[in-house]
Amino acid sequence: MGALMCGIVAARVDGGAAPFLLRALSLLEYRGYDSAGVAIVTEDASTAVIRSVGRVGGLTTDVAAWAGAPLTGLGIGHTRWATHGAVTTGNAHPHRDCTGRISVAHNGIIENHRALRQELEADGHAFASDVDSEVVCHLIEDHLESSGDLLRSVHAATRRLEGSWALVVTDAETGRLVAAAHHSPLIVASSAIGDFVTSDIGAIADWVDEYRTLVDGDIVELADELVWTRDGQRTAAPQAALCPFTSAALERGSHADYMAKEIDEQPAIAARILDDLVPHIADGSLWRSLEAPAFERIAVLGCGTSLNAGRVIARAFGALGGIPTVSVVASEASETILDPGTLILALSQSGETADILRALDQLEPVSAGLVAVTNNPASSVARRAASVVDCNAGPEIGVAATKTFVAQVITGVAVAVSALVATGRIDRSRAADLTDDLRRLPDLLAQALEVSKGVVPGIVDEVLDRSGFIFLGRGPGVVFAEEGALKLKEISYRWAEHYPAGELKHGPLALVDQGTPVIVVDNGDPRLASNLSEVAARGGRVITIGGAGSTIPAVGMSMSRPLVGGMDRWGPLEAVVPLQLFARELALRLGLDVDKPRNLAKSVTVE
Ligand code: AGP
Repeated sequence: MGALMCGIVAARVDGGAAPFLLRALSLLEYRGYDSAGVAIVTEDASTAVIRSVGRVGGLTTDVAAWAGAPLTGLGIGHTRWATHGAVTTGNAHPHRDCTGRISVAHNGIIENHRALRQELEADGHAFASDVDSEVVCHLIEDHLESSGDLLRSVHAATRRLEGSWALVVTDAETGRLVAAAHHSPLIVASSAIGDFVTSDIGAIADWVDEYRTLVDGDIVELADELVWTRDGQRTAAPQAALCPFTSAALERGSHADYMAKEIDEQPAIAARILDDLVPHIADGSLWRSLEAPAFERIAVLGCGTSLNAGRVIARAFGALGGIPTVSVVASEASETILDPGTLILALSQSGETADILRALDQLEPVSAGLVAVTNNPASSVARRAASVVDCNAGPEIGVAATKTFVAQVITGVAVAVSALVATGRIDRSRAADLTDDLRRLPDLLAQALEVSKGVVPGIVDEVLDRSGFIFLGRGPGVVFAEEGALKLKEISYRWAEHYPAGELKHGPLALVDQGTPVIVVDNGDPRLASNLSEVAARGGRVITIGGAGSTIPAVGMSMSRPLVGGMDRWGPLEAVVPLQLFARELALRLGLDVDKPRNLAKSVTVE
């Protein structure tokens, strides 16, 4: 079995395809890094299939060692994240048909693969792997035998498929290249350098200026011109979108890892977002520009860190404007009953998270409308929403979301304040005070970075050998405790749980013994003191993240009552900085790869 959630690429260039495929795969590696492979057509019209378990670095060595027929400029590549089934070279993509003529790389799940495999095997096809995707090769092989045409064969084969797919297919005999998509992201781009297909524009940003996105049912041949078909009919290619960034945005620069870079970028990103948004918040024009429908309630929808950002934004709607809110874990959306007049705010960094797309199938029809907040305005989630807010964080490569959390929160709170004033729930002067609070964030984030970098390494020294961590908060601090625990478990593989501090005595206090690290987001709530003495009395090691006098004094003005605005009601955003640095430092000390934690991938495109 091989349900996949991966990165795919195809190149059709003059000269050799290998360097393009390998460079793109290294940039796609964040989507999966169990195994990787390429299939490159050779000068004798066969295909070199080179695959290896592990990272793209290993594959690069194997490609360099290729001693067969010379490689041409036509090839496909794949980096894999297996949801089940063994991670083996045989299960790595690309896969081939019985003749070796057809090569296929696939992202998605073929749900009816068992029945198709049975049928194909009964017809005499020999399978070389356990993965669902291989059925696609053999289906195409069958149709190619009768039609002789790759494009028509891909059409015929995909008509038999149930599930989701982004496919790139080469025919070694004719040198043709076809791409197809259904419920899985895929883009094509052409430039003077050549033609490319990939899951994510970032992978090919070095070589193209613009790109076109396939929608469900699109099948495209990359020939001297793009042959675009939709639902089996020839159609005009969709309008091209401009490449949103240059390859420089993908470089790690002098930083030790992408996570370090992305944490460091946060103050500058906050400043850039606010420069764009501030003029449009207090007059309500930001909200009006979205043309979103009237609403009585807000449901924030997301997964992981994006859901945590959504919870902060929900708090802004609730605490600042009295709007009833609910937060919906996307994978549990089928359990949710939305009240009438509920507007959905869907948060997704990638905009490709399958759980969110499925949740929208269920919830959107019974909602008042949908606003998408995403870092990818060309994504599947964005394409479904009439109103889209670009959270504008730039590409995030580290699997652990950091700068996109900050960008989502700032963008979302700006939207919330603008919505409240545009719909008459608060007046302009109150909105202006709230906007003034937002303007402080770049400085608060910068201070938090500076303070935390000095203090966090020493604290990590003390807790390096601890296997479990507890994160606490109260009120607006709880969601930050949750985000801190998520970061820690994600990259350090240590157990970490978060609780509202008041819940401790209802059970989790039993976990505390001599030296148990208890990390507290201290928002100045006076009730925290007694919760912390309960921990200290049992020998727990209390680490507070708060204002002056706390263990990590990284929280500035945002929680102090004299603020004219209302950041104390939804903040403190800057508390996330020491939490991110704490998780990263611990993971590094444990010798772990903070950018590519085990078992995870950046975009979770399977349910
Ligand atoms: C965060 O550190 C995680 N990698 C993960 O929880 C992530 O936030 C989640 O999978 C949602 O992804 P999205 O924002 O792309 O939808």
